[in-house]
Amino acid sequence: MYDISYDQLEKAKANVKTNLEKLSNEGLLRGTIPADKAFSAVNVTTSLKDALDEAVYVQESTLESVDHKKKIFAEMDALVGENTVLGSSTSTIPASQFTENLVHRRNCLVVHPVNPPLYLPLTEIVPAPWTSQEAVEKVRDIMKSIGQEPVCLKKEILGFAVNRLQFALLAEAWRLVSDDVLSPSDVDKVMSAGLGPRYAFKGPFATIHMNANGVMDYCDRYMAGVKRVLADLGPIPTFEEPQALKEIDTSLTAEMPLDKLNEHKAQREKNLAALMQLKKSKQ
Ligand SMILES: NC(=O)c1ccc[n+]([C@@H]2O[C@H](COP(=O)([O-])OP(=O)(O)OC[C@H]3O[C@@H](n4cnc5c(N)ncnc54)[C@H](O)[C@@H]3O)[C@@H](O)[C@H]2O)c1
Repeated sequence: MYDISYDQLEKAKANVKTNLEKLSNEGLLRGTIPADKAFSAVNVTTSLKDALDEAVYVQESTLESVDHKKKIFAEMDALVGENTVLGSSTSTIPASQFTENLVHRRNCLVVHPVNPPLYLPLTEIVPAPWTSQEAVEKVRDIMKSIGQEPVCLKKEILGFAVNRLQFALLAEAWRLVSDDVLSPSDVDKVMSAGLGPRYAFKGPFATIHMNANGVMDYCDRYMAGVKRVLADLGPIPTFEEPQALKEIDTSLTAEMPLDKLNEHKAQREKNLAALMQLKKSKQ
């Protein structure tokens, strides 16, 4: 692990230790190496040159800014050879925006984990137009070998897949509140008591396949209705509608006051750990 701040490295190392032990106790450690052995393989340095020495794969997780990504990728580009793949954790910036002029740009791509990554194994692999297929395949194999569940986007697209789906849902959730159809807590309940648990096991395509006698039957019977509903969804909200914003803020801060947010995040982790244990037992 490399950082410009030694303090951050010390904190990160302590976090890695705690998280490995936590995953081990929960039976959710991925891979075959015991927690203490995995931890003993973690070294920290404030020298980028040392960190990259003979590196096969690099997961860059520094600040989320195009200028910063350009700078750190240029620094790495100058230090690596032909065999190092450089993946960025960026949630929002396509790799083409910060790797175009690099010598090793064919080895650069986005490798986006999902929050909280400790429990959610999805990883989006998003190549730039110049990323080689070999680099994509190498990252996919590495991710699989450490227990991640990678999906490879065939081409670069804004928001990748997770945020395109997530933001489409957020827009409609917002409209349901601003159009005074549902309260914010009831919108959340539609997900937590309905769609969420269903999607924890099967995605939207598998769902329509099972909700009729196969996908072709679903399309025959229901797609006209699906299109009528979709045509009725309003424009993109501004997310500044004063009434909706106030209602959503009031509802959320009553349910989860800001000074208790860390307790709610810890509870979410516990719940996700239990869900992942269940999913593991169903494999
Ligand atoms: N936080 C999440 O849930 C999450 C999820 C998926 C992806 N990401 C992505 O991961 C990246 C990091 O996000 P974060 O929330 O951990 O950010 P953060 O601000 O918490 O951490 C950034 C780290 O980068 C270090 N840093 C700053 N400049 C540096 C440099 N020149 N060289 C080396 N290290 C440097 C900082 O010291 C800090 O430790 C972003 O690109 C973000 O989009 C974050």
